[in-house]
Amino acid sequence: MDFVEQLKSSVDIVSVVGEYVKLRRSGANRYMGLCPFHNEKTPSFTVHVVHQFYKCFSCGAGGDVVKFVQEKEGLSFYEALKSLSERYGIPMPKRSGYADEDSKLRGALLAMHEQAEENFRANLKAQAGEAARSYIAKRGLAPETVEHFGLGYSDRSGRTLVRLFEQRGFPVAQMEESGLVGKRQDGSLYDRFRNRLMFPIHNEAGKMIAFGGRALSTDDEPKYLNSPETPIYKKSHVLYNLHRAKESIRKEDRVILVEGYMDAIGVSAAGFRNVVASCGTALSTDQVQAMKRHSHSIAVNFDPDTPGVNAAERSVDLLLAEGMQVRIVELDGGLDPDEYCKERGAAAYQERVDGAKGYFYWLADRARAKHDMRTAEGKVAVLNFLLPKVQRITDQLERMTIAGDVAGYIGVDRGMLLDHFRKAASERGEKAIERPQSPLRHDERWLLIALLTDAALRAEIIGPLRSLQTIETLPSRRIFQAIFAVEEAGGRVGFDEVNGRLEEADQNLLAQTVLNEDGEISREDVLAALARIQLSEQQNLQGQLKARIGEAERAGRFDEAVRLALELDGMERAGRSLRRAGHA
Ligand code: UTP
Ligand code: MN
Repeated sequence: MDFVEQLKSSVDIVSVVGEYVKLRRSGANRYMGLCPFHNEKTPSFTVHVVHQFYKCFSCGAGGDVVKFVQEKEGLSFYEALKSLSERYGIPMPKRSGYADEDSKLRGALLAMHEQAEENFRANLKAQAGEAARSYIAKRGLAPETVEHFGLGYSDRSGRTLVRLFEQRGFPVAQMEESGLVGKRQDGSLYDRFRNRLMFPIHNEAGKMIAFGGRALSTDDEPKYLNSPETPIYKKSHVLYNLHRAKESIRKEDRVILVEGYMDAIGVSAAGFRNVVASCGTALSTDQVQAMKRHSHSIAVNFDPDTPGVNAAERSVDLLLAEGMQVRIVELDGGLDPDEYCKERGAAAYQERVDGAKGYFYWLADRARAKHDMRTAEGKVAVLNFLLPKVQRITDQLERMTIAGDVAGYIGVDRGMLLDHFRKAASERGEKAIERPQSPLRHDERWLLIALLTDAALRAEIIGPLRSLQTIETLPSRRIFQAIFAVEEAGGRVGFDEVNGRLEEADQNLLAQTVLNEDGEISREDVLAALARIQLSEQQNLQGQLKARIGEAERAGRFDEAVRLALELDGMERAGRSLRRAGHA
């Protein structure tokens, strides 16, 4: 048995997942819980005990235990194997092949990023960096700030990194995977970043994994060019500056969240080291959880423009769902955090952060500014705006407290509002766990499950199934074909092997099929299902035959008509015995 199989058969996915997710048994072979990969209030995350896989029917995440650890902890395949083997005391073969490709590639990519950073830094000091230096001066960045954040400059040549990497012997494929180098249609390579101020991006462990590059002039588009996703850079996992900020986030027990690189740098340089940036993208669950590991309290300080405010609202939904305490920092004069720190100074910014309103008061203020609270319509409009948001607070006690506070703040009847939430809460509590519905018919499902789980039965039915044309018309045809292919190749016919051959849509179908079955399926059920499919195939063929007979008669080809009629007769006799079998 190969090591991955050995590991997977000795580690129980239910207990591994159970370390991250509160699982509840839901059927003979299933557990369910709230999906750790997206936000939800009713569980659609399922773990299958026998087939050892997980699947979320809401966000689509799914896989085996190794994939789970990879996704949850942001590890490579090899690292996830290592982590599991250490945790469960299963020794990993010393010279394991898994280390090779995966970690070699990651090692190479990290090395390329270090070289790139070194080059960018040197450029900034060299003659070519003149324009970048004056830009830095114009933006008011002190030399120690430039140093601290490792800023650099990518020159105009478009060949510098390519040449550097070639000298060091990195293969072209690795260069492309790094995201630092692009390839033209004619096959030639070029530096992705040219004539830009470079911001190194690190993961939480402090490894440099990507860059953001700012244009030096306004007519250079886009303003920021960023590394693409690579094997070492998953955007939704990374917060800019977290590796530097985390200590201070713990100490202050608060994280300041801003939007941009320059904001994080400006705020940090003003002495607020606990700042991280989301870098213009919508906040992800992983990012929120990364912050939450260091503090539960967050001050959100997005740009005062409309996109900034909208981004704040969207992000806050996620933050609240994760149970963070959210305050909103408001800066006057239309300044962004970076500008504010520079123009008004650290003390003024400190005041803004300390005086930041709780999220719901901020929302209530915004709503009040839009509607006339002296009229009934105004009050209703404000409530309609606020209630759904209060509703999203996961902790019931906190939800009630905030509902009461907000009612007082906007001047509506507290009792009425609390009643509303009590009712909603009890309705919510009664919502049952939904089981994924399989779109497949019983027969199809039973046959698939038999093929996957019962070797003896599989041997009996796989031949007849292979010869059926009807299989080609089933929604699950690609799963059947995958099973046929695995069997033909002589390998073990299990969930993993079959799953591995499928495209995502069919993987989902397979998971739903397997998750839908609880009780034992008997041999009789399976054989009856086979007979029914055979029968329906025969009926099709009979229909075709009848048509051909009619045609032959009309054309006067009576010999042929008689021959076909005999064939039909034989088929009808065989059909009668199938019909009996199908009733089993
Ligand atoms: P901003 O436009 O607010 O940038 O975008 P900024 O950080 O304040 O930079 P300056 O002060 O104009 O120099 C916020 C963030 O959105 C991402 C970047 O991460 C940026 O820091 N962004 C913005 C991009 O990725 N690409 C863009 O073209 C613009
Ligand atoms: Mn800015």
